[in-house]
Amino acid sequence: METLRVGIVGLGLAATPHLKGYQSHPRAEVSAICDVDEARALRFADEHGIEEVYTDFTDFLEGAEIDIVDITTPTFLHAPMALQAVKEGKHVHCEKPFCRFTGEGLQVCRAAAKAGVWVAVGETYVFTSAHQKARALIEAGEIGRPLQIRQRHGDWIERAKPRINTGPADRSWRVDAAKSGGGAYPWIFDHAVHFFAAAEYFALDEPIAEIYAVRAQRAGIEPQSGAAHDPYQKAEVDIPIITWKYQDEGVQGVWMRAERLNGKYDYMRGFSTTIVGEHGLIEVLGEGGHNLLWQGKQQHLVLHSEGQKPQCFRFDEGGDDVWESDVSYYSQGHINQVRHLVDCIVEDREPDYGGEEGVHAVRCTLAAIRSAELGRPVRVGEIGEEYRAY
Ligand SMILES: NC(=O)c1ccc[n+]([C@@H]2O[C@H](COP(=O)([O-])OP(=O)(O)OC[C@H]3O[C@@H](n4cnc5c(N)ncnc54)[C@H](O)[C@@H]3O)[C@@H](O)[C@H]2O)c1
Repeated sequence: METLRVGIVGLGLAATPHLKGYQSHPRAEVSAICDVDEARALRFADEHGIEEVYTDFTDFLEGAEIDIVDITTPTFLHAPMALQAVKEGKHVHCEKPFCRFTGEGLQVCRAAAKAGVWVAVGETYVFTSAHQKARALIEAGEIGRPLQIRQRHGDWIERAKPRINTGPADRSWRVDAAKSGGGAYPWIFDHAVHFFAAAEYFALDEPIAEIYAVRAQRAGIEPQSGAAHDPYQKAEVDIPIITWKYQDEGVQGVWMRAERLNGKYDYMRGFSTTIVGEHGLIEVLGEGGHNLLWQGKQQHLVLHSEGQKPQCFRFDEGGDDVWESDVSYYSQGHINQVRHLVDCIVEDREPDYGGEEGVHAVRCTLAAIRSAELGRPVRVGEIGEEYRAY
């Protein structure tokens, strides 16, 4: 049985969760790594027993004998690195946001199709166990047709001592207009792809057609700092509320931000979603989620189906490595997604969340930013291939 050899480029926060995914798959092995910071790369290699270490991406692509390139570098490098990798005939697993404008993402998709390799985008929100269970319950008809997706974003609280290496102290690329890809909205650009991906996942893949985002006025709000791995000194120009319509206009969605970065308080932590259906409702926790209670007990998912007793579900997968949350996002979510790509390569089938899906989530995010700027709803189709937020 042949083992797929993997090379990881970019050894910051996202690299360890990916490594765990490959390490836990019997058909995969991480044999090479690359980072411009040589000391970090050597430490990572030593800690995890990886033989080949590179500090230059082109040398790594040409020198390492690998089948999969796993890209966990800052966002501005995603599409250029993915393009180079697929042209070398490598399968790619690339962190989100897949690209900074849709044209560069589509170029990767076309090149991958030509080279006969798979591209998977690291959209953890469709691989988190609690979210996958919610989707399975919806598919099984437990709430009828999903009609409204309500997402709330409470605080992400970091563990006093994270269980994995959370990467370099300098993350200024995350607030750089061009490197983050988000212009004046770097936080939204980095995270909204998750929100839109989850919004379509819970709506059984109904595509989002139009987005209306509200820009905050922030009068009187004391600036706060974000999660420690987001280097925000002050509340950025912010988008606290996003609403959207799907192609089927009978279905709508909303995302609401209520966390310390913009001075609000919400007892329910992290990302959580209420999915309202024709005859039932699901409440489910996602990244960093905490405080979903049913009769005084912590749950990860509660199903209310008309005429039935509520059903509660927990996914005790060891808690989170970074957040104070017992939903295992920075471990099992990433592990699920990486293992899925390896399975797809072994079985030669298309990954569930590939390049086109990654591009679509970026297009939705750009529509949200454009809507906040213009103060009017924006059709996702208005976002052309060259449109950028920076
Ligand atoms: N899905 C998720 O839950 C999740 C979580 C964290 C990060 N991410 C995404 O992963 C990406 C990386 O984020 P992060 O927080 O891990 O970043 P980070 O800043 O922690 O680490 C980035 C690493 O890339 C290295 N690097 C920079 N330029 C390089 C180059 N040219 N060649 C090789 N290495 C290079 C840096 O030295 C650093 O070690 C981002 O796009 C982010 O949005 C996703």
